Amino acid sequence: MKCIRCRERAEIHLRQHNSAFCRTCYVFYFHRQVERAIHKESMFTPEDEVLVAVSGGKDSLALWDVLVALGYRTVGLHLALGIGEYSATSTEKTEQFARARGLRLITVPLASEGPGLAISTVATSTNRKPCAACGTVKRHYFDGVAAEHGFRVVATGHNLDDEAARLLGNVLRWQTEHLAKQSPVLQPNHAKFARKVKPLFRISEYEAAVYAFVRGIDYIVEECPNSVGATQLVYKDVLNRLEAAMPGTKLTFVQEFLRAGRPAFVTAEAAPPPETCERCGMPSYGAICSFCRLVAEVERKQETRRSAQSG
Ligand code: AMP
Ligand code: FES
Ligand code: ZN
Repeated sequence: MKCIRCRERAEIHLRQHNSAFCRTCYVFYFHRQVERAIHKESMFTPEDEVLVAVSGGKDSLALWDVLVALGYRTVGLHLALGIGEYSATSTEKTEQFARARGLRLITVPLASEGPGLAISTVATSTNRKPCAACGTVKRHYFDGVAAEHGFRVVATGHNLDDEAARLLGNVLRWQTEHLAKQSPVLQPNHAKFARKVKPLFRISEYEAAVYAFVRGIDYIVEECPNSVGATQLVYKDVLNRLEAAMPGTKLTFVQEFLRAGRPAFVTAEAAPPPETCERCGMPSYGAICSFCRLVAEVERKQETRRSAQSG
């Protein structure tokens, strides 16, 4: 098979797009796909400085690489989550990537934040599932760091597979409020919120992996150990089987949802905007935000342990 762009021998076949590329043209194709998504969804412009959330995985590193290649102004944000060896490697890969390219990276070691917020500690102290605690902490720091440093846009590496799996989960439970909000661009409804964008929402996990490989990006291959058995992976597996039988299913599912499905869930009366957390000043539904409630629980647990030890 030949590259549809230059007619050289093709090495990469994309069944969902019924096309094939050589390595050079694949990089061109990938950049154009991301650039189109940024433009079409009005995510940001070259004037914006974008805070890119990077985990050290293929998606977020590929995202950072493309944004730099396309000439956007970026700063990386990495949260060292404190999930054992997995986090140590993620941080190492992220720092290596930034160092090799001379890019600015803000790293937040969660273990040194407040009472010590390593995800493993937070999860055990609060009897929460690690992923639930992790989601709350991540959201807080993405917004908090953006607000502190004056970034108005935060970009994450969520890809087509992530978005399709999330959509399937929301549809299976008819979570209409979540469906109304599922979008590649989330506009802020509080002064301390940044615009959240997902420039890879039309790029499959496979395409991102191929891009990272072709560009020689060294990323962490292992998944987070807490993701074992996650429902999200069941949805991804189902969608992969549909995709194998009917190439293009994932893209159509997400794209048509955004075009034809989502508007039906956006109700006339907009959800009330969040208030401001009394403790940390970030957006909050209720007097104290979910992050601060989590931190308070960790502090209480430490206090109980300390008095048990001294008593
Ligand atoms: P996940 O929730 O692990 O699928 O990650 C989704 C996106 O969140 C990634 O593509 C990153 O943009 C961002 N992200 C996940 N983990 C981290 C982290 N430790 N530090 C910074 N950003 C992260
Ligand atoms: Fe958050 Fe796995 S990345 S629990
Ligand atoms: Zn708070």
